[in-house]
Amino acid sequence: MSNDIKIGIMSNDIKIGLFGYGCVGQGLHDVLNNSKGFRSNIDTIVVKNKHKQRRLPQDAFSFEKNDILDKQDIDLVVELIDDAKEAFDITKTALKNGKNVVSANKKMIAENFEELVALQKNHGAGLLYEASACASIPIIRTLEEYYDNELLESVSGIFNGSSNYILSKVINEGLDYPSALAKAQALGFAESDPTLDVGGYDAKYKLVILSGHAYGIFIKPEKVFNLGIDNLNEPIIRYARDQKLKIKLIAQVVRLDDKNVTAFVLPKLVNSDHPLYNVENENNGVIVRAAFSDEQIFIGKGAGGHPTGSAVLSDISANSYDYQYEYKKMSQANKFLFTNNVTIDIVAAGFNEDLQKIPFVSIQSQKQGLIEGKVKLETLIALQNEIRSSGIFIATTGEPEVLHTTFKNKDALVEV
Ligand code: HSE
Repeated sequence: MSNDIKIGIMSNDIKIGLFGYGCVGQGLHDVLNNSKGFRSNIDTIVVKNKHKQRRLPQDAFSFEKNDILDKQDIDLVVELIDDAKEAFDITKTALKNGKNVVSANKKMIAENFEELVALQKNHGAGLLYEASACASIPIIRTLEEYYDNELLESVSGIFNGSSNYILSKVINEGLDYPSALAKAQALGFAESDPTLDVGGYDAKYKLVILSGHAYGIFIKPEKVFNLGIDNLNEPIIRYARDQKLKIKLIAQVVRLDDKNVTAFVLPKLVNSDHPLYNVENENNGVIVRAAFSDEQIFIGKGAGGHPTGSAVLSDISANSYDYQYEYKKMSQANKFLFTNNVTIDIVAAGFNEDLQKIPFVSIQSQKQGLIEGKVKLETLIALQNEIRSSGIFIATTGEPEVLHTTFKNKDALVEV
């Protein structure tokens, strides 16, 4: 595979200004160099660290962001850095200057979602970000275009490749947690700060983005409950093994009724009939449940340079035929609200004295180091820092208590 930057730009090539040359930037470079049907060229690459060893010579890089932002003949800004604040500055400046942007930065998009949609509208420039959610799975454009008029019941799944990889290695192969995490980092799956992966934050950012395209709603990430797999402990591993269940980190946005949706990220215990039971390693899986099309499942690589680079390529290609998100669900008459007022079934594993602090609505069973029962999501949110620091592992065991779904209750569908 050639690592050369193509030079001698043809007049009709798309000129790309690339920010970042980490795992995804390099992946994109490989993908572009091997893409036959599409003519684009990386004109300028801006990186931050002058002293980092990279696979291209030092003179292939610039260290000044205005070398891209101020350059008139760059057609498209591709932002693949991991600093969400800096990524937002770059994206905002580019959009304000009327330049289209492709980004993979889920944190940046989730935290500034509403402003980014307004910036696009106000400046007539487009922002595409398929690579920000579930890497190679084309879920954003699918929600935006295919399901634009479907009554969605839920969008859920494994949205973080690193956590899934760690769970596969620790539970299926018996590797210890720190070694599994180190492997996920070495393979380029994990974020620079892996707490984002194993704490469920990364999955939450992706969930916020998908909720926008599925339900036309801007949810502030800090309102969404997330617990990850970092408190994985022996009692929960034993519990899952004894019952032949697997643990998967699941992000879900669920329609509760005609007005309300809830969203949260929590590990879930799944049996062998569950569609995500066999989704292992860095793969992601997205389940879309809808009133008319029922259930559809999308599975594919959710992390890594080439799968993520392929999603960026798809956006670069879409940009070349002027594709922009219309945020169709946002302009529909029915406006959804976000709520944490929902009851969920959980099993909590940890020290008995810590487990007593969880405000269960009802307890189904209780034994040494484990409590199964029902809990209100809003009461868990209030305790989330305490739960994290006490080492309690929480997993859901069922679906959130939905008030009304046409998916489950087919009689609610009006037939002609
Ligand atoms: N750290 C992310 C993951 C990368 O593990 O899923 C892809 O977004």
